[in-house]
Amino acid sequence: MTPANILRATLAAGLLVAFALPSAVAPAAAQAVQGGDTGGGVVRVAKPVTGAQVYQSVCQACHMQDGKGGSGAGTIPALASNPRLAGAAYPIMVVSKGKGAMPSFTDLLSDAQMANVITYVRTNFGNSYAKPVSEAEVARIAHPPAAARD
Ligand code: HEC
Repeated sequence: MTPANILRATLAAGLLVAFALPSAVAPAAAQAVQGGDTGGGVVRVAKPVTGAQVYQSVCQACHMQDGKGGSGAGTIPALASNPRLAGAAYPIMVVSKGKGAMPSFTDLLSDAQMANVITYVRTNFGNSYAKPVSEAEVARIAHPPAAARD
């Protein structure tokens, strides 16, 4: 399976199933499903969910449960103990714009969800970059003013 196919499979099955599960995370998750839009094959999760939930639903398929990445169809870099996560701008750029075989998540996740999951990976898997990433920081990079786009 290519990374892109893994992502599609995750979105088609995992995301909705994971969020539909009645569990400790049910209230936010159930709302996410109700607010979800499956039109055009894009699953947009409307409500904020935690960084851990986003990681497990979306990022883990490629970067693995332990954040150590792997090599199969392509090489997936480790997020674990990764000094490139020290600054917030780089991971925001990669997640919002995509890089190489990694897709852009701007159309899939809200700015708050991107902020939450980036904060999550920067404070887990052996990383301890404590300062949370804010929704505003993500917005500045994910949705630059029209004049700055060209
Ligand atoms: C479809 C597979 C896939 C998914 C899903 C995915 N990534 Fe990636 N990710 C990659 C690949 C491949 C790269 C390497 C890109 C490159 O450098 O060319 C990467 C690179 C990164 C990097 C940069 C690492 C470095 O050392 O340069 C970060 C940060 C990152 N991903 C975070 C995330 C987060 C957070 C998510 C979930 C929102 C996510 N990724 C989902 C495949 C994926």
